[in-house]
Amino acid sequence: MDGNGRWAKRRGLPRIEGHRAGAESVREIVRVAGEMGLKYLTLYAFSTENWQRPKLEVRALMHLLEFYLQQEIPELAKNNVRLAAIGRLHELPSSAQRQLEKGIAALKDNTGLTLVLALSYSGRAEIVDAVRAIARDVKTGAIEIADITEESFGRYLYTAGMPDPDLLIRTSGELRVSNFLLWQISYAEIYVTETLWPDFRKAAFLNALDDYSKRHRRFGKVASSDSV
Ligand code: IPE
Ligand code: MG
Repeated sequence: MDGNGRWAKRRGLPRIEGHRAGAESVREIVRVAGEMGLKYLTLYAFSTENWQRPKLEVRALMHLLEFYLQQEIPELAKNNVRLAAIGRLHELPSSAQRQLEKGIAALKDNTGLTLVLALSYSGRAEIVDAVRAIARDVKTGAIEIADITEESFGRYLYTAGMPDPDLLIRTSGELRVSNFLLWQISYAEIYVTETLWPDFRKAAFLNALDDYSKRHRRFGKVASSDSV
C-alpha cells in the first residue's frame, strides 16, 4: 500500500493525513474483496524497513493500526472476514499485539475472506526465520535433510497453509517488489498502477481484477493451444 506520503504532500498535508486516508482505502478494498468472493487479501501494512522512519511517523502508524483493529472488528465480523497476520509480530508494540490477537480470536470462525496483515514484515527475514526453524528440526531429528522440499519449506513460512498470491498489486507506480512475499510470489501476476494508495478505491481495484482476468497464466509451460 504505497503512496500515502505523496498523496498528502500533493495536498500540502502532513504525511500522517495520507496514512489516515489510506486507512479508508483499506476499509473499502477489504469490503469489496469480500463482496467479490476473494478468499485471501494480504496487505503490506508495515515493513521491517519502515521502523527506520521518523519516530513520530512510526508511532502514528502503530496508533492507526490499533485504532483500525479496534474500530473495524464489528464490521469485519459482519462481513464474515477472518483475520491473520504475518511478520515479526513480536516486534510490534505490546498494545498492538494484544489488539491483533483479540481481532484474530474474535474472527477465527469466519469463513469468508481471510484478511492477512503483513506487519513488521520482510520477505528475506521470513525466509531466514524458516531456515532457522528447519535447522532446529533437523538438529533435534524431527525431520531429515531429505524431507526439505519446496512443499515442506512452505510450511515453515509465516504463510503456512495459505495459498500463494495470484495477483500482486503495486500502487503509486513503483516498479519493485520491496521485500514482499519473496518466496510466495514466484508465479504471481504483477499489476502496477500509478494510483496512490489513498486514491485506490473500488473502481481502481475492479480495474486491477479485470486486467488480471485477461492474463494467460502458463506457469512456465506453453499454452495448450500452441503447436510445438
Ligand atoms: C504508505 O505509503 C506505506 C506505509 C508504510 C504505511 P508511504 O508512506 O510509503 O508513501 P510515500 O511512498 O511516501 O508516498
Ligand atoms: Mg513509499
